[in-house]
Amino acid sequence: MAVGNGSLEDLVTENHEAAGGEAAGRDSEGRDAAASVGAWTGRSVFLTGHTGFKGSWLTLWLCRLGAQVHGYALDPPTSPSLFEEAGVAASLSSDTRGDVRSFERLRDSLEAARPDVVFHLAAQPLVLEGYRDPLGTLAVNAMGTAHLLEAVRAVDSVRAVVVVTTDKVYEEREPGRPYREGDPLGGRDPYSASKTAAEAVSGAYRWSFFGAQEGHPARVATARAGNVIGGGDWAADRLLPDCLRAFAAGETVRLRFPGAIRPWQHVLESLAGYLTLAERLLGAEGGRFAGPWNFGPLSADEATVGEVAQMTARLWGGGARLEHEPPPARPPEAGLLRLDASRAQVELGWRPRWALGEALERTVAWHQAWLRGDDMTAVSLDQIAAYEGAARA
Ligand SMILES: NC(=O)c1ccc[n+]([C@@H]2O[C@H](COP(=O)([O-])OP(=O)(O)OC[C@H]3O[C@@H](n4cnc5c(N)ncnc54)[C@H](O)[C@@H]3O)[C@@H](O)[C@H]2O)c1
Repeated sequence: MAVGNGSLEDLVTENHEAAGGEAAGRDSEGRDAAASVGAWTGRSVFLTGHTGFKGSWLTLWLCRLGAQVHGYALDPPTSPSLFEEAGVAASLSSDTRGDVRSFERLRDSLEAARPDVVFHLAAQPLVLEGYRDPLGTLAVNAMGTAHLLEAVRAVDSVRAVVVVTTDKVYEEREPGRPYREGDPLGGRDPYSASKTAAEAVSGAYRWSFFGAQEGHPARVATARAGNVIGGGDWAADRLLPDCLRAFAAGETVRLRFPGAIRPWQHVLESLAGYLTLAERLLGAEGGRFAGPWNFGPLSADEATVGEVAQMTARLWGGGARLEHEPPPARPPEAGLLRLDASRAQVELGWRPRWALGEALERTVAWHQAWLRGDDMTAVSLDQIAAYEGAARA
């Protein structure tokens, strides 16, 4: 199969078949995943948040798979940004700079694109910013999702909607126990509450307006993934961007919570989950997949902040320095969040492909290529190709 034209499910299928296991490219009811060959070729996709970190990677990947991508977002949230450095604009079919708080502009843009698939990634994505601006965070993340789904009601071309939320939507109950999709939702801080609200809005729209009896053909799912790493992330208050910035400047990285355990996952893992989920929603039994899905790393990829910083420093090479400093007085972060992603593994055929070491290696390599002035479109597409290769291996 030509990698550039196949679907994620094809890759998963091939991998399972190569493994010869019972999963052999079929879901829990034994359906053959190979049915969706070329799922993305010629597909029209509307992607909110295309100027962001995940959105830029997803745009590059979708275009590589043959989709026509229409973006809707504010300007890139950082400078530099993956969007600019990897020249993502060049692959877009349309690029609308608009606010998800503006319902009319969002609806008009969606109507103009008339997509088959919608990925909703636009958000205020930072926990600390949620404490600084709770009203703004709720307006963008909760009402922005309502605006998006209300706009979808007006466009009957849409068949599949993936709303991206987070692992932080779960009510913190038993520390350490992995959360499953049916567990109660909560959200103690404003960011988590805004994403929990996005889940509630998605559920209400799914039940009320989308479904076999409701007349609109769209199937709506939500995707819950944890923090991700990868090249091209310049966001504030994230470990990898902080390390890479400091190493490049010859400065010492000061670790505030070196003993804190976190799950670590490469950005392409969660994006593979979103793509596979959308493919399932587009299928004949798409309604079965309309609902919430966890996409989390294997428990082997849990490591402390200190361990990850040390691994990153080793990969960086000479001159990388780390030290510990006392934790600052600031709003508390949630403890270790674990996701149980077995439903996605069994029913979608998705599973993590890159172990922590490989994810860090790819992230450092991307950043060092950027510092050398390499062609970052090519570097990013090469990493996507390598991920697809891992899915086939
Ligand atoms: N990066 C992670 O580790 C992570 C983890 C869990 C969930 N998520 C979720 O994934 C999605 C993407 O995250 P990211 O890391 O790429 O974030 P990012 O900050 O890099 O990108 C955010 C995108 O949303 C757009 N945006 C922000 N406010 C907007 C508004 N009012 N109207 C229109 N567009 C707006 C930005 O322009 C940008 O395109 C978010 O929904 C986030 O909550 C991210």
